[in-house]
Amino acid sequence: SVPVAEGRGAFILFEGLDRCGKSTQCQCLLEHLTAQQVPVQKLSFPDRQQETGKLIADFLQRKIQLDPLAVHLLFAANRQNVRQQMVDSLAAGVTLIVDRYAYSGVAFTAAQLEAPHPRGLDLDWCKTPDTGLPAPDVVIFLRLSPQDAAARGQYGAEAYEKIDFQEKVQEQFDKLRDTSPNWVELDALLEQDSIAQQVSTIAAEAIQDCRQGKRPMQYLWS
Ligand code: TYD
Ligand code: MG
Repeated sequence: SVPVAEGRGAFILFEGLDRCGKSTQCQCLLEHLTAQQVPVQKLSFPDRQQETGKLIADFLQRKIQLDPLAVHLLFAANRQNVRQQMVDSLAAGVTLIVDRYAYSGVAFTAAQLEAPHPRGLDLDWCKTPDTGLPAPDVVIFLRLSPQDAAARGQYGAEAYEKIDFQEKVQEQFDKLRDTSPNWVELDALLEQDSIAQQVSTIAAEAIQDCRQGKRPMQYLWS
């Protein structure tokens, strides 16, 4: 029999540097949960299908030039545009598997700002446009050094795929980790199956808690 969703769905987020294996793990978890008849939906950001996403894609492929702060707002707009759909899905008992989110948004922009910034363009400024989005129940951070990431190939094609820059992004992710209680780090150098196994355990726990009403919906940046 197909289990009927009772409580809300869980929001399971994958974050990490470029080439850390997020997309592979998202796909593995999607297949795993689907096989278990868990109602589930996968999202990835930037969502390049949206109008804002097309601008973002052109920027990342260096086809158009945009101010970094303007790009930041586009990335956030790309998420805010599906905020209500995400909230509705979670409320309807659908578990969301998300490939990058506001944490990438903040880390990739903050890595480009000088700190302390004389005009208030700091980490808090970076966080503001994502305010009010549903918050993840768990952030699965796949940790990989920028050197190991670069060694994986297909690296350097897009604007942010440079070792020096990725190191700065990692520093910003570390700041976000320190204020996110539901952040879990996994070693991205482990075998794909071993990571997938850890991910499914983490996901099962979050899904069960949400289904049983043990975790109220939260919103960024609480
Ligand atoms: P990425 O996840 O690599 O997309 P794809 O799987 O389609 O290649 O994201 C593209 C780049 O955008 C990546 O370098 C991270 C960056 N990024 C931001 O700068 N801000 C954001 O808000 C997001 C979601 C991503
Ligand atoms: Mg990429």
